[in-house]
Amino acid sequence: MKTHFTDIKHLIQVRRNTIKLVAGTDMAHLPSLENAFLSIENDKIVDFGEMKDFRSSSQDEIIDLKGKIVLPTWVDSHTHLVFAGSRENEFTDRIKGLSYQEIAERGGGILNSAEKLKHADEECLFQEAFKRLNRLIALGTGAIEIKSGYGLSHEAELKMLRVIKRLQQNSPIPVKSTYLAAHALPTEFKNSKTDYVTSIIEDTLPYVAKENLAEYIDVFCEKGYFDLVDTDRILKAGAKFGLKPKVHVNQFNAFGGVKVSVENNAVSIDHLEVLTAEDIEQLKHSDTIPVALPGCSFFLGIPYTPGRTLINEGLPLALASDYNPGSTPNGNMNSILSLACIKMKLLPEEAINALTINAAAALELSEKVGSISKGKLANFIITKPITSYNYLPYSYGENCIDQVWINGKKFDYESH
Ligand code: NIG
Ligand code: FE
Repeated sequence: MKTHFTDIKHLIQVRRNTIKLVAGTDMAHLPSLENAFLSIENDKIVDFGEMKDFRSSSQDEIIDLKGKIVLPTWVDSHTHLVFAGSRENEFTDRIKGLSYQEIAERGGGILNSAEKLKHADEECLFQEAFKRLNRLIALGTGAIEIKSGYGLSHEAELKMLRVIKRLQQNSPIPVKSTYLAAHALPTEFKNSKTDYVTSIIEDTLPYVAKENLAEYIDVFCEKGYFDLVDTDRILKAGAKFGLKPKVHVNQFNAFGGVKVSVENNAVSIDHLEVLTAEDIEQLKHSDTIPVALPGCSFFLGIPYTPGRTLINEGLPLALASDYNPGSTPNGNMNSILSLACIKMKLLPEEAINALTINAAAALELSEKVGSISKGKLANFIITKPITSYNYLPYSYGENCIDQVWINGKKFDYESH
């Protein structure tokens, strides 16, 4: 039996020929239909079009969506969703004047989360992350990436990755796993960073690969964390096991992380708050997708990724939440949409493309999600009656979502 959604005021991001991503001026184009229908069967989209072309058979279910807008669910290609505890004390320290880096130098930051995670029970970690994930689905996230990186030891990293695997197995949405191999230097390796990197490469990475715990590998390539040599070593070691790079680069400093990531065929490079002309040239000659994380810029009060420049230079751009307890305690992609428009000066069309089709490409999920296309998963958002899709980023504090459908079923948050 098919289900038809009819009289849709505006059906957004319809793509008849599936394309991988949009770049440059094409990002301002968001194909959509007015007064439309959408048909689904089992977990897939089977048809869509204008109401004048709508046909149904008597066994089909029809759901009238007058006044409502339908768009594909958001794809969040960068999160640290598995974590223990919160860090609001650092939040108040920052209000009083300390910077993110100063807090980290005093043993806070990632080390603070790692200490909490070390003592957290695996089952509790899973239950908390599962709740977070379901809250995000109710807010319209229909595919997600989750990183390890708060373990900082063989055992604790594996604990995180096992939790991510359980989320993969229990969640209705696609979950991609990233081994964030080098996130911060644990205190016991304070004077021997090279040994720590060697232990990652020789002890943990082979195990992660053997147990099939991750598809991607990540490094926090940043001054005071891991340098170009560390990044290159880890990415090359990951590649030997088939793990593809998605890298944290240029959050605070630009010193060649983009080049190293591109040379290692990174699927995406994420953050990029600081970008040089040379970095942009590197990106132009690569298939690596730049990912901006405006929630982090907002929360830490650091510069926003120059997304406008990237688009004007003809590049694609994806947007993600970076949900984590330190720099972005928010996984709500609707607020990322608003921040991208308000702070990065992206048009709503550009931002919606960056949160859907391009984000799907940054997660290598273009065949399954990211647009309303025949054969893709029936993962979509139905809004409350609103005037236009511009209202979504504009009304930045309002929840405009009426329903979220995942795999062809209405997502029921209450049952989770
Ligand atoms: O992407 N910058 C590196 N990692 C995270 C933040 C980690 C933390 O502060 O807990 C990020 O912003
Ligand atoms: Fe991050």
